[in-house]
Amino acid sequence: MKQPQDVEQHVDNAYGGEREPTNAPFVRNIWYVVGWAGEFEGSGPFSRCIIDEPVVLYRKGNGALVALQDRCAHRWAPLSLGRVEGDHLRCMYHGVKYGVDGQCVEMLGQDRIPKTLCVRSYPVVERHRFVWIWLGNPAVADTSLIPDLGILDQDWRRFYSGSLQYEAHYSLINDNLADLSHIAVLHEKSGGRTVGSAAADSQLTPYVSGGAEAKPLDRGIRVEAWVGPAQRSILLPRKIPGGDIWTRTDFLAPGTLVSITQMYPYGTAEKCKGLPPGPEQRMLGDIMSIQAVTPVAPRKTKYFFSLGPRVADAEKEESDGLWQIMLETFAEDLQMIQAQQKVIDDHPGHRMAGIAADRGLILFRNVMKSLLAAESPGARL
Ligand code: FES
Ligand SMILES: [Fe+2]
Repeated sequence: MKQPQDVEQHVDNAYGGEREPTNAPFVRNIWYVVGWAGEFEGSGPFSRCIIDEPVVLYRKGNGALVALQDRCAHRWAPLSLGRVEGDHLRCMYHGVKYGVDGQCVEMLGQDRIPKTLCVRSYPVVERHRFVWIWLGNPAVADTSLIPDLGILDQDWRRFYSGSLQYEAHYSLINDNLADLSHIAVLHEKSGGRTVGSAAADSQLTPYVSGGAEAKPLDRGIRVEAWVGPAQRSILLPRKIPGGDIWTRTDFLAPGTLVSITQMYPYGTAEKCKGLPPGPEQRMLGDIMSIQAVTPVAPRKTKYFFSLGPRVADAEKEESDGLWQIMLETFAEDLQMIQAQQKVIDDHPGHRMAGIAADRGLILFRNVMKSLLAAESPGARL
């Protein structure tokens, strides 16, 4: 049980004297999800904004994506109104043409190209159905820092994906994903009693590992638990026989959620003594969801989400139904968080009160704070 003084401590750790939880700056040296790869079909150009920085993406001749600052160096016309020409992007105001490194390669009616006629180019990677971008110092853009989301590449799943735009600071959406206790309450009508409610109901379940408390990871947090059979997730397909449910949710900076829920025969939780199931345990079925939070501007955030029931576990109709439930829950999150942002903005300078369920979000805010602190001034190009 959390003691009141622990909770006090959490609050102090979370806000550290700040009275505005939604004024945190953006981390730059990190991979952000720009969008689902399917959003970038054809050569483009495609206009996006990430951490308040307008970006234009296009595909060069071999299909690889290029990302440039979306502001022509000449008179600042948006390059996203330009034209892709082979490996290059031409500004369609006065015709300056840029290469993949952001340098001007051609001007109409002028042979001498000034060195200053260039725009920033950003590392961009297509991986696990997402497009990722690095807006910080390109010299430290290490692709091994992209979270392993190989689960998205499993073609034996029926894969659903979507996105929403929030009128809210990214940290409120992160808070929501780092504290799954809200599921049983905010989503009581749509997805209530889903597996996420294990975090809220840990005392009710006999097989909870570590009280379903958030534990710190290197760049995020983990919540994992055995959930009693009574709490069978409504997001698990009906074909999966009843049993003990194992759930694990990792939430990784800057906002990638990896959730997997697995069903095992009754008694497996006891056999495992509350510890994670090993490969020797026979799994009856599972469901996964990957989600990602990308700040667009101080009060705008993109939220990407997916659901992946196994083809063998559910007919298309049932899978479609599960997806509809998920969409309903996301609509509830959106409505609540946008309203919360409005209240925060209407009452600046006040301090929030903490409760024990805040542990996850506070741990996660601390991860983000340490990433920000680690950024040298040189990284903030
Ligand atoms: S503004 Fe782009 S060429 Fe002039
Ligand atoms: Fe939610």
